[in-house]
Amino acid sequence: MVDDLEHVEKQAGMRLDAASTVEELRAAETEVLGKRSALAGLHARLGALAPEERKAQGQLLNGARTRLSELAAERAAELRASERAARLEAERLDLTEVLPGPRRGHLNLVTQTRDELEDVFVGMGYTVSEGPEAETDWHSFEALNFPKGHPARSGFDTLYLDWGDPESTLLRPHTSPVQIRVMQSQPPPIYSIMPGKVYRKDTPDARHTASFNQIEGLVVDKGITFGDLAGTIEAFTGAYFGAGIHARLRPAYFPFTEPSAEFEITCAICAGAGCRTCSGTGWIELGGCGMVHPNVLAAVGIDAEAWSGFAFGFGIDRCAQMRHGISDMRILLDNDIRFISQF
Ligand code: DAH
Repeated sequence: MVDDLEHVEKQAGMRLDAASTVEELRAAETEVLGKRSALAGLHARLGALAPEERKAQGQLLNGARTRLSELAAERAAELRASERAARLEAERLDLTEVLPGPRRGHLNLVTQTRDELEDVFVGMGYTVSEGPEAETDWHSFEALNFPKGHPARSGFDTLYLDWGDPESTLLRPHTSPVQIRVMQSQPPPIYSIMPGKVYRKDTPDARHTASFNQIEGLVVDKGITFGDLAGTIEAFTGAYFGAGIHARLRPAYFPFTEPSAEFEITCAICAGAGCRTCSGTGWIELGGCGMVHPNVLAAVGIDAEAWSGFAFGFGIDRCAQMRHGISDMRILLDNDIRFISQF
């Protein structure tokens, strides 16, 4: 019987080892440990043995049963672990399969342009300031030397807000009111630029949109001259647009500067040769500038005898338009991915 037992245990062990799934193992367990197993057959033979013999053989049989049960439990744990690993592997999301997928987004062209212009001026020692888009009439016009009823006001196509006294609050039509806020918040010397969004009651066309972006510049220091202004504009033009693009100043009128000028740059689309975009002149108007009017300094309590300054303001969108040869400004607001993704 001992020989039989050894054989039965060996066979049973091999049977358990051979199971390759939890289910197969369960079947093998029934086969080698169940009622109809060879082991059970040996058990049935115990009854025919003498009591002493029965006890010894019984212990051997039980030992074999315990070892086989342990082996089965071990195998079950192994199989469960590998089945779980296989299931996780099968359920894993392979994201690489999505390629070529959506491209990563990036900053809008106008924002990129604003950042680059800021970099140019920060490189020249300017700080960057901001002001509110909903402004008072006082900051937008009054303090900038546009008295009430001044004809220059009507040139701004201002959008008024229904807030407070009639026409006391508005969506700023230019970034110049931020000059006032900067001068109110710090004493000179001041070297600051003020980028931001502006609004006008304008009908959109190829060169205009009802909301666009400007950069205002303000310098207030001792002994500032018109030559400093002209040099600053030329320096910024070269730094942002590159060599070959120049600036020129032409006399103009703004209530908040005296003298005032418009500044134009070489048309980047035809490199100055003359084209449809620049109406054949070779120049494109970018903004206005001038020496800060003494009335403006007085409005914020700066002594115009001791200090002088210059200011300028120009369109950020217009800079992007020139640098990238965009023929129609309206596309900057369309959010068309085919346009946006080109920059
Ligand atoms: N605010 C003017 C505009 O929107 C532009 C401008 C002109 C700004 C002259 C200035 C300046 O600071 O000095 O048309």
